[in-house]
Amino acid sequence: VRRLLFAANWKMHLGPDEARAYLKAFRRDCAPIEGREVWFFAPAVSLEAVAHAVRGEGRDDLLAGAQNIHWEPKGAFTGEISGPLAVQAGARATLVGHSERRQLFGETDEQTARKVDAALNAGLVPVLCVGETLSERERDQTIAVVTRQLATALRDGGTVAGGRGTKESAAVARIVIAYEPVWAIGTGRNATPADAAHVHRAIRRWLSDRGMPTTRVLYGGSVNLKNVAELLAEPEVDGVLVGGASLDPSGWTALVRTGAP
Ligand code: 13P
Repeated sequence: VRRLLFAANWKMHLGPDEARAYLKAFRRDCAPIEGREVWFFAPAVSLEAVAHAVRGEGRDDLLAGAQNIHWEPKGAFTGEISGPLAVQAGARATLVGHSERRQLFGETDEQTARKVDAALNAGLVPVLCVGETLSERERDQTIAVVTRQLATALRDGGTVAGGRGTKESAAVARIVIAYEPVWAIGTGRNATPADAAHVHRAIRRWLSDRGMPTTRVLYGGSVNLKNVAELLAEPEVDGVLVGGASLDPSGWTALVRTGAP
Protein backbone atom coordinates (compact mmCIF):
# COMPACT_ATOMS: atom_id res chain seq x y z
CA VAL A 1 0.00 0.00 0.00
CA ARG A 2 1.35 3.37 -1.03
CA ARG A 3 1.69 5.76 1.89
CA LEU A 4 1.77 9.29 0.49
CA LEU A 5 3.90 11.88 2.21
CA PHE A 6 2.96 15.56 2.08
CA ALA A 7 5.90 17.59 3.36
CA ALA A 8 5.67 21.32 4.01
CA ASN A 9 8.93 23.28 3.92
CA TRP A 10 8.13 26.61 5.51
CA LYS A 11 11.63 27.94 4.81
CA MET A 12 12.15 31.29 6.61
CA HIS A 13 8.48 31.86 7.46
CA LEU A 14 6.11 31.32 10.42
CA GLY A 15 7.40 32.08 13.90
CA PRO A 16 6.18 30.22 17.01
CA ASP A 17 2.86 32.08 17.43
CA GLU A 18 2.11 31.85 13.72
CA ALA A 19 3.03 28.16 13.74
CA ARG A 20 0.66 27.48 16.65
CA ALA A 21 -2.21 29.29 14.91
CA TYR A 22 -1.43 27.46 11.65
CA LEU A 23 -1.44 24.01 13.27
CA LYS A 24 -4.61 24.77 15.18
CA ALA A 25 -6.40 25.59 11.91
CA PHE A 26 -4.83 22.67 10.07
CA ARG A 27 -5.74 20.11 12.73
CA ARG A 28 -9.30 21.43 12.82
CA ASP A 29 -9.79 21.33 9.04
CA CYS A 30 -7.74 18.31 8.08
CA ALA A 31 -8.62 15.09 9.89
CA PRO A 32 -6.20 12.17 9.40
CA ILE A 33 -6.51 10.60 5.94
CA GLU A 34 -5.88 6.88 5.54
CA GLY A 35 -2.55 6.30 3.80
CA ARG A 36 -1.32 9.89 4.09
CA GLU A 37 1.26 11.54 6.34
CA VAL A 38 1.90 15.25 6.74
CA TRP A 39 5.31 16.50 7.83
CA PHE A 40 6.13 20.11 8.72
CA PHE A 41 9.68 21.44 8.29
CA ALA A 42 9.60 24.51 10.47
CA PRO A 43 12.21 27.18 11.22
CA ALA A 44 14.28 26.15 14.25
CA VAL A 45 12.64 28.74 16.49
CA SER A 46 9.19 27.27 15.75
CA LEU A 47 10.14 23.62 15.98
CA GLU A 48 9.04 23.15 19.56
CA ALA A 49 5.68 24.83 18.92
CA VAL A 50 5.06 22.61 15.90
CA ALA A 51 6.21 19.46 17.67
CA HIS A 52 3.88 20.20 20.55
CA ALA A 53 0.94 20.91 18.23
CA VAL A 54 1.36 17.74 16.16
CA ARG A 55 1.58 15.47 19.19
CA GLY A 56 -1.76 16.08 20.90
CA GLU A 57 -4.74 13.71 20.78
CA GLY A 58 -2.83 10.75 19.48
CA ARG A 59 -2.51 11.80 15.85
CA ASP A 60 0.27 9.76 14.34
CA ASP A 61 -0.07 11.11 10.79
CA LEU A 62 1.73 14.37 11.61
CA LEU A 63 5.41 15.00 12.27
CA ALA A 64 7.69 17.97 12.97
CA GLY A 65 11.05 18.30 11.24
CA ALA A 66 14.04 20.64 11.11
CA GLN A 67 15.18 22.31 7.89
CA ASN A 68 18.88 21.82 8.48
CA ILE A 69 21.25 20.47 11.12
CA HIS A 70 24.99 20.70 11.73
CA TRP A 71 27.05 17.52 11.38
CA GLU A 72 28.56 17.75 14.86
CA PRO A 73 26.41 16.76 17.84
CA LYS A 74 27.56 19.77 19.90
CA GLY A 75 30.24 22.41 20.12
CA ALA A 76 31.26 25.97 19.35
CA PHE A 77 29.28 26.51 16.14
CA THR A 78 27.50 29.80 16.66
CA GLY A 79 24.14 29.95 14.97
CA GLU A 80 23.90 26.25 14.18
CA ILE A 81 21.64 23.55 15.60
CA SER A 82 22.63 19.92 15.99
CA GLY A 83 20.65 16.72 15.50
CA PRO A 84 20.35 16.09 19.25
CA LEU A 85 19.16 19.69 19.82
CA ALA A 86 16.52 19.31 17.10
CA VAL A 87 15.40 16.06 18.75
CA GLN A 88 15.13 17.86 22.10
CA ALA A 89 12.87 20.43 20.44
CA GLY A 90 10.64 17.61 19.19
CA ALA A 91 11.91 17.01 15.63
CA ARG A 92 11.68 13.50 14.24
CA ALA A 93 13.11 14.29 10.78
CA THR A 94 15.34 16.84 9.07
CA LEU A 95 15.85 18.11 5.55
CA VAL A 96 19.41 17.59 4.34
CA GLY A 97 21.03 19.26 1.35
CA HIS A 98 18.13 21.43 0.28
CA SER A 99 19.14 23.26 -2.88
CA GLU A 100 18.96 26.59 -1.05
CA ARG A 101 21.55 25.27 1.42
CA ARG A 102 23.70 24.11 -1.50
CA GLN A 103 23.26 27.18 -3.73
CA LEU A 104 23.03 30.05 -1.24
CA PHE A 105 25.15 28.72 1.62
CA GLY A 106 27.74 26.73 -0.28
CA GLU A 107 26.86 23.37 1.25
CA THR A 108 28.87 20.61 -0.45
CA ASP A 109 27.99 17.01 -1.29
CA GLU A 110 30.47 15.89 1.39
CA GLN A 111 28.75 18.05 4.00
CA THR A 112 25.41 16.50 3.09
CA ALA A 113 26.94 13.06 3.77
CA ARG A 114 28.08 14.17 7.21
CA LYS A 115 24.64 15.62 7.91
CA VAL A 116 22.88 12.40 6.84
CA ASP A 117 25.14 10.50 9.26
CA ALA A 118 24.50 13.06 12.00
CA ALA A 119 20.74 12.83 11.49
CA LEU A 120 20.82 9.03 11.70
CA ASN A 121 23.02 9.12 14.80
CA ALA A 122 20.47 11.39 16.45
CA GLY A 123 17.57 9.15 15.39
CA LEU A 124 16.22 11.73 12.95
CA VAL A 125 14.86 10.64 9.57
CA PRO A 126 16.88 12.42 6.87
CA VAL A 127 14.94 13.81 3.93
CA LEU A 128 17.78 14.10 1.44
CA CYS A 129 17.17 16.68 -1.28
CA VAL A 130 18.73 16.26 -4.72
CA GLY A 131 18.22 18.04 -8.02
CA GLU A 132 19.91 19.57 -11.03
CA THR A 133 20.26 23.21 -12.06
CA LEU A 134 18.83 24.51 -15.32
CA SER A 135 22.21 24.51 -17.06
CA GLU A 136 22.86 20.94 -15.90
CA ARG A 137 19.48 19.90 -17.30
CA GLU A 138 20.20 21.67 -20.59
CA ARG A 139 23.50 19.80 -20.84
CA ASP A 140 21.63 16.53 -20.28
CA GLN A 141 23.35 15.91 -16.96
CA THR A 142 20.26 15.49 -14.79
CA ILE A 143 20.65 11.80 -13.98
CA ALA A 144 24.42 12.09 -13.56
CA VAL A 145 24.06 14.99 -11.11
CA VAL A 146 21.29 13.40 -9.09
CA THR A 147 23.07 10.05 -8.80
CA ARG A 148 26.30 11.81 -7.81
CA GLN A 149 24.42 13.68 -5.07
CA LEU A 150 22.87 10.41 -3.85
CA ALA A 151 26.15 8.52 -4.02
CA THR A 152 28.04 11.11 -2.01
CA ALA A 153 25.35 11.81 0.57
CA LEU A 154 24.64 8.11 1.18
CA ARG A 155 28.30 7.07 0.81
CA ASP A 156 27.39 4.99 -2.20
CA GLY A 157 24.93 3.03 -0.11
CA GLY A 158 27.37 2.44 2.76
CA THR A 159 25.28 4.70 4.99
CA VAL A 160 22.50 2.15 4.78
CA ALA A 161 24.64 -0.96 5.02
CA GLY A 162 26.63 0.13 8.09
CA GLY A 163 25.95 -1.65 11.38
CA ARG A 164 23.93 0.60 13.61
CA GLY A 165 21.95 0.54 16.82
CA THR A 166 18.18 0.26 16.94
CA LYS A 167 17.51 4.00 16.94
CA GLU A 168 19.71 4.51 13.88
CA SER A 169 18.37 1.46 12.03
CA ALA A 170 14.82 2.70 12.44
CA ALA A 171 15.80 6.05 10.92
CA VAL A 172 17.80 4.38 8.11
CA ALA A 173 14.75 2.35 7.12
CA ARG A 174 12.76 5.54 6.82
CA ILE A 175 15.18 7.71 4.80
CA VAL A 176 13.29 9.80 2.27
CA ILE A 177 14.66 11.27 -0.96
CA ALA A 178 13.22 14.49 -2.37
CA TYR A 179 13.87 15.23 -6.03
CA GLU A 180 13.69 18.98 -6.45
CA PRO A 181 14.94 20.36 -9.75
CA VAL A 182 16.59 23.67 -8.83
CA TRP A 183 15.02 25.46 -11.80
CA ALA A 184 11.54 24.52 -10.54
CA ILE A 185 11.89 25.85 -7.00
CA GLY A 186 9.91 29.02 -6.37
CA THR A 187 9.80 29.79 -10.09
CA GLY A 188 6.30 28.62 -11.00
CA ARG A 189 7.92 26.28 -13.52
CA ASN A 190 7.65 22.65 -12.68
CA ALA A 191 8.70 19.38 -14.18
CA THR A 192 5.98 17.55 -16.07
CA PRO A 193 4.83 14.39 -14.31
CA ALA A 194 6.60 12.42 -17.05
CA ASP A 195 9.87 14.34 -16.51
CA ALA A 196 9.63 13.80 -12.76
CA ALA A 197 8.83 10.11 -13.20
CA HIS A 198 11.86 9.66 -15.45
CA VAL A 199 14.20 11.00 -12.76
CA HIS A 200 12.33 9.19 -9.97
CA ARG A 201 12.81 5.90 -11.82
CA ALA A 202 16.55 6.51 -12.04
CA ILE A 203 16.67 7.35 -8.33
CA ARG A 204 14.65 4.25 -7.46
CA ARG A 205 16.92 2.05 -9.56
CA TRP A 206 19.95 3.49 -7.78
CA LEU A 207 18.33 2.88 -4.37
CA SER A 208 17.14 -0.62 -5.25
CA ASP A 209 20.62 -1.60 -6.38
CA ARG A 210 21.81 -0.67 -2.90
CA GLY A 211 19.15 -2.51 -0.94
CA MET A 212 16.70 0.36 -0.49
CA PRO A 213 13.82 -0.55 -2.82
CA THR A 214 11.11 0.84 -0.56
CA THR A 215 12.64 4.27 0.08
CA ARG A 216 10.10 6.97 -0.68
CA VAL A 217 10.93 9.51 -3.38
CA LEU A 218 9.13 12.86 -3.20
CA TYR A 219 8.87 15.52 -5.87
CA GLY A 220 9.33 19.21 -5.08
CA GLY A 221 9.45 22.49 -6.99
CA SER A 222 6.45 24.77 -7.53
CA VAL A 223 3.96 22.12 -6.46
CA ASN A 224 0.54 23.70 -5.97
CA LEU A 225 -3.17 22.93 -5.87
CA LYS A 226 -3.35 22.98 -9.66
CA ASN A 227 -0.59 20.52 -10.45
CA VAL A 228 -0.47 18.22 -7.41
CA ALA A 229 -3.12 15.76 -8.63
CA GLU A 230 -1.31 14.95 -11.87
CA LEU A 231 2.01 14.58 -10.05
CA LEU A 232 0.49 12.19 -7.50
CA ALA A 233 -1.17 10.24 -10.29
CA GLU A 234 2.33 9.19 -11.29
CA PRO A 235 3.05 5.92 -9.41
CA GLU A 236 6.75 6.86 -9.15
CA VAL A 237 5.87 9.87 -7.00
CA ASP A 238 5.48 8.94 -3.31
CA GLY A 239 4.57 12.44 -2.20
CA VAL A 240 5.53 16.08 -2.48
CA LEU A 241 7.80 18.61 -0.77
CA VAL A 242 6.15 21.99 -0.94
CA GLY A 243 7.40 25.50 -0.15
CA GLY A 244 5.19 28.45 -1.13
CA ALA A 245 1.93 26.51 -1.33
CA SER A 246 2.36 25.20 2.23
CA LEU A 247 2.44 28.58 3.96
CA ASP A 248 -1.28 29.08 4.32
CA PRO A 249 -3.16 26.44 6.34
CA SER A 250 -6.31 26.44 4.20
CA GLY A 251 -4.39 26.07 0.93
CA TRP A 252 -2.22 23.37 2.48
CA THR A 253 -5.29 21.54 3.80
CA ALA A 254 -6.79 21.53 0.31
CA LEU A 255 -3.52 20.28 -1.16
CA VAL A 256 -3.19 17.47 1.40
CA ARG A 257 -6.80 16.41 0.77
CA THR A 258 -6.31 16.28 -3.01
CA GLY A 259 -8.05 13.22 -4.39
CA ALA A 260 -8.90 11.91 -0.91
CA PRO A 261 -12.32 10.29 -0.51
P1 13P B 1 8.35 25.93 -3.82
O1 13P B 1 7.22 24.93 -3.60
O2 13P B 1 8.07 27.26 -3.22
O3 13P B 1 8.76 25.96 -5.25
O4 13P B 1 9.59 25.36 -3.01
C1 13P B 1 9.95 24.04 -3.20
C2 13P B 1 10.94 23.67 -2.17
O5 13P B 1 12.08 24.12 -2.19
C3 13P B 1 10.53 22.75 -1.10
O6 13P B 1 11.63 22.31 -0.37
